[in-house]
Amino acid sequence: MRYDKKMKKNNYPKAVPDVPLTLLGGLSAAQFLAEYWQKKPLLIRQAIPGFNGLLSPDELAGLACEDDVQSRLISFKRGRWNVESGPFDEKRFGKLPERDWTLLVQGVNHHLPEAVELLQQFAFVPYVRLDDLMVSFAPDEGGVGPHFDSYDVFLLQGEGQRFWRISEQEDLTLVEGAPLRILQNFNAEQEWVLEPGDMLYLPPHVAHWGVAVGNAMTYSIGFRAPSAQELASEFLNYLQDKLSVSGMYADPDLRLQAHPAEIGSDMLAKVSEMLNQIRWQQEDVTDFLGRYLSEPKPHIVFEDNKVLSLKRFVQQLAKQGVTLSGKSQMLFHDTQFFMNGEQFAVPASHQAILVVLADDRQLEPSWFGAAVFQDTALMQQFYDWYLAGYLHLIE
Ligand code: SIN
Ligand code: CO
Repeated sequence: MRYDKKMKKNNYPKAVPDVPLTLLGGLSAAQFLAEYWQKKPLLIRQAIPGFNGLLSPDELAGLACEDDVQSRLISFKRGRWNVESGPFDEKRFGKLPERDWTLLVQGVNHHLPEAVELLQQFAFVPYVRLDDLMVSFAPDEGGVGPHFDSYDVFLLQGEGQRFWRISEQEDLTLVEGAPLRILQNFNAEQEWVLEPGDMLYLPPHVAHWGVAVGNAMTYSIGFRAPSAQELASEFLNYLQDKLSVSGMYADPDLRLQAHPAEIGSDMLAKVSEMLNQIRWQQEDVTDFLGRYLSEPKPHIVFEDNKVLSLKRFVQQLAKQGVTLSGKSQMLFHDTQFFMNGEQFAVPASHQAILVVLADDRQLEPSWFGAAVFQDTALMQQFYDWYLAGYLHLIE
């Protein structure tokens, strides 16, 4: 199954802080952020009424067989956990026991337009914080054991039921030597059976354990937060290419040292002063962050579009409009735009249309009027993204 380039009209709760949302159990986005986000768990019954999932267990298994999809098969047998990584051979799924296993597939939004639409319902959290949609399938009693995650997650129940237990315990000691993160001591404080359409929000580090009741599929809307260590070392990498520090080490004042092997204090002081020239501005941080956080994960491969000339592509824009690939990450800050790790500064006249593309992830044909067509630089930019597979014509 591939990303089929179809997108329905978007209708998601963007920037409406005071409207009560069914998705959040009647809380507004602003209330949810103030009271629960990164603070405490929230169970929401019928967050998406009528939701019964976006794909079948067979379709999920099909995705897990593809080369550019990250998947894991987790099983529990005779007291031991096992983890196998995809891509899987189709035959692997014919040999599975009746119970006690889970198939986890990451990045389902990269392949399924409906999954992109589902994620857009969570647009009250900036896209830059959103990681991906992971979907799991487990037969009766399947699960990945008691554990905690370092990131926020919304666990939305698709088909079937799942018995969730959670705990805000302080003891987060993990079982040593297990192939996945399993808590040594899990003391459930709250428990619920989630039905299709129910959703559980968990902030980072809340211990949880979900067990399938019959066949169950869970949709994990996962977030990301870079660590300070990761940001610092990536920023230093980035600075390396931009750095320009003047001068050369010199020591006309050199004095005789007692030990020629010693690195003298004078030298240390001079080098510290040279290194103190390393400076960066707010714009460097913006540029770094936009590039780094829009960078596709290494396994991601963009799909080719049908070959069209620039002229033909521009004609089709007015008829079809465009949608971002489910694999694309487009971000911006002021007039700096970032697409899949690349940065481009745009003139003020391009800003409005690109902000809509970044927010809504698509542009209806009505956006492509005469004024836009005359903007050859903008048309070339869209065409380059089309050639790279970063966006598609809406079918
Ligand atoms: C699952 O869907 O089986 C696991 C989700 C989680 O516990 O984070
Ligand atoms: Co988890």
